[in-house]
Amino acid sequence: MARRIALLGIAIVGGAWMAWQVAAGGHGAIAPSASVEGVVVNVAGEIVGGAVVRQQTTDNATIGAADGTFTLGGLPEGVTVTVTAWDEGYYPAGVQVVPPRSGITITLRPHPVGDNPDHEWYTSMPDPEAPIGCGHCMVAFPQWVTNAHGTAGANPRFFSLYNGTDLTGTRHLGGGYKDDFPGTAGNCATCHAPGAATDDRAFTTDMNELTGVEREGVFCDFCHKVSDVYLDPATGLPYDNAPGVTSMRLNRPPSDTHMFYGPFDDVTRRVSYLALEKKSQFCAPCHQFSFWGTPIYESFREWLESPYPARGIECQTCHMAPTGVDYFVYPENGGLIRDPASIASHLQPGAADQELLQNTVTMTVHARQAGDRVRVTTIITNTEAGHHVPTDFPGRHMILTLAAIDDEGNPLAQLSGPTVPDWGGPQAGLPGRAFAKVLRDVESGDAPVMTYWKQAIIISDNRIPALESDASTVTFVSPGAGERITVTARLRFRRAFQEAMDARGWDTPDVLMEERTVSLVLQPRWDLFLPVVLR
Ligand code: HEC
Ligand code: HEC
Ligand code: HEC
Ligand code: HEC
Repeated sequence: MARRIALLGIAIVGGAWMAWQVAAGGHGAIAPSASVEGVVVNVAGEIVGGAVVRQQTTDNATIGAADGTFTLGGLPEGVTVTVTAWDEGYYPAGVQVVPPRSGITITLRPHPVGDNPDHEWYTSMPDPEAPIGCGHCMVAFPQWVTNAHGTAGANPRFFSLYNGTDLTGTRHLGGGYKDDFPGTAGNCATCHAPGAATDDRAFTTDMNELTGVEREGVFCDFCHKVSDVYLDPATGLPYDNAPGVTSMRLNRPPSDTHMFYGPFDDVTRRVSYLALEKKSQFCAPCHQFSFWGTPIYESFREWLESPYPARGIECQTCHMAPTGVDYFVYPENGGLIRDPASIASHLQPGAADQELLQNTVTMTVHARQAGDRVRVTTIITNTEAGHHVPTDFPGRHMILTLAAIDDEGNPLAQLSGPTVPDWGGPQAGLPGRAFAKVLRDVESGDAPVMTYWKQAIIISDNRIPALESDASTVTFVSPGAGERITVTARLRFRRAFQEAMDARGWDTPDVLMEERTVSLVLQPRWDLFLPVVLR
């Protein structure tokens, strides 16, 4: 519901923006029809053919001809507009003109290409001492700083598994990565601190020794310096054993220049355009990986094999959805006003987001009398996740419980059907089920484990794929006729297996994803009185 309100808000703001656009054109309801003609060249005076030429901040764009010339129509007559041009390898450039106009020249400056390992990462923080601190100017900063990317370099749950400690890091309990592979750093930093694991440091970056900006986890300057990803053309997936930054090409410029990539081709400040930023493939290197050949993080493949790619729905569509803000640089710092629907957020909601989790599945419960029992069927449909639910970190799971009571509140005994497995914490043994990918440690035979840095195999996986349903049926012993039976189904989301959370002091409460109550009044059982032959 809240999500619908948010969308409505965007629609209203979007409508207002459209109205403003028309008003700004000064034409009321008449479509603007003036044009600007010119040519796109580069700083060396060479023709740039095929550039994207655009009325800045709008959808009104055209592609230049091979000889560099262009005609951009649909412009408001007599009103100053900025016409921008961009082509691969260049920064976008713009000129201010009053349409109609001809004979204008837009001159593109090439951006630096190639990677400079000596680039010093810019902090994301609004640090007055820093040469560039993204946080000063950008709406993205408050969204990112508290999300899983912004906290990846300092997530206490991560360190409790990496070092084998409790959540505070003070008590050593064993069973961490560092206990199993002492003296090594592991591959964790390639995704959890990618700014540190560049160049030849992919598998030698110790997460305990991050310094400075590296501690900002998956930070602004890192993501906005990625120029390509290396995916296997045969499968569309990252290559084996090439996690995170090792599957990404960076374009860090020489120290005296600035260069970022972004999703717009009309930003005329030290940023160039990268179509990849609007694609799930951008996220793939960190959200798809197998350890010892066993798939662990799999959200990208699950999405790739779902109906969503064909519908043009990318990771960004759901995890970077617009919030209705119509600028991304604060206007007082020079930010331009744009269609709010074109501005992605950096909220990246996930396992900590109650609203997201409560808008992930639908659950229906049917209870009916069947002879001397009450049969309850629960159908859970993954309607809103672009991948299996749950996905990625293999500790995540959902627990479905069913409770049936009579009028006096006495529980009905379960006759048949599944029960929550013994690793289900307080719900273990109750009528219901758990949905998880269960890993068994090869050496110890323990299951479920989250210690996938040691060889583990998948012994079961009943997570629900995107847009698919799961049905479970539980039967209860039926009391006598005339009794009203009430059945309550609850679906919980749990961050990690209860025993492991308790041992390490992870204090994340369950999120109640869905709850449904149905009741029925038991009818007299006429079949008991029927002659045996008819039964
Ligand atoms: C290929 C990229 C990649 C590598 C390599 C990787 N991780 Fe992760 N890790 C992720 C992603 C993505 C998530 C978020 C998944 C989710 O939220 O379900 C994550 C989540 C986690 C979490 C859950 C944190 C929480 O707050 O619940 C832990 C713990 C963790 N990783 C530990 C490790 C350890 C330890 C290593 C190294 C042995 C490692 N990871 C290696 C990508 C990676
Ligand atoms: C995990 C990688 C990642 C991180 C970290 C990240 N961004 Fe982005 N950013 C993206 C992607 C991907 C897009 C394009 C999304 C789209 O348009 O669908 C984007 C878009 C943008 C845009 C264009 C406007 C918009 O929001 O659509 C700006 C500006 C921006 N990011 C700034 C920042 C700043 C500032 C930070 C740090 C506070 C940051 N980004 C952190 C990946 C990232
Ligand atoms: C450089 C690696 C990297 C890239 C690129 C990356 N992520 Fe992540 N992402 C991570 C890691 C690591 C975590 C988990 C951090 C933690 O929990 O401590 C994470 C967590 C998340 C979460 C939150 C999970 C939670 O449990 O709260 C979401 C959602 C997410 N990423 C979506 C995306 C999307 C969408 C993209 C592409 C636009 C993307 N990520 C790109 C590494 C990456
Ligand atoms: C159609 C919308 C949609 C799309 C597309 C989508 N997601 Fe999600 N994502 C969700 C929802 C809803 C959840 C919460 C339920 C869950 O955890 O599975 C979620 C959860 C996550 C989480 C947190 C998992 C956890 O429990 O810790 C990560 C990480 C994530 N998504 C990454 C991605 C990546 C990467 C892509 C693209 C390959 C992607 N998502 C595509 C809707 C979407």
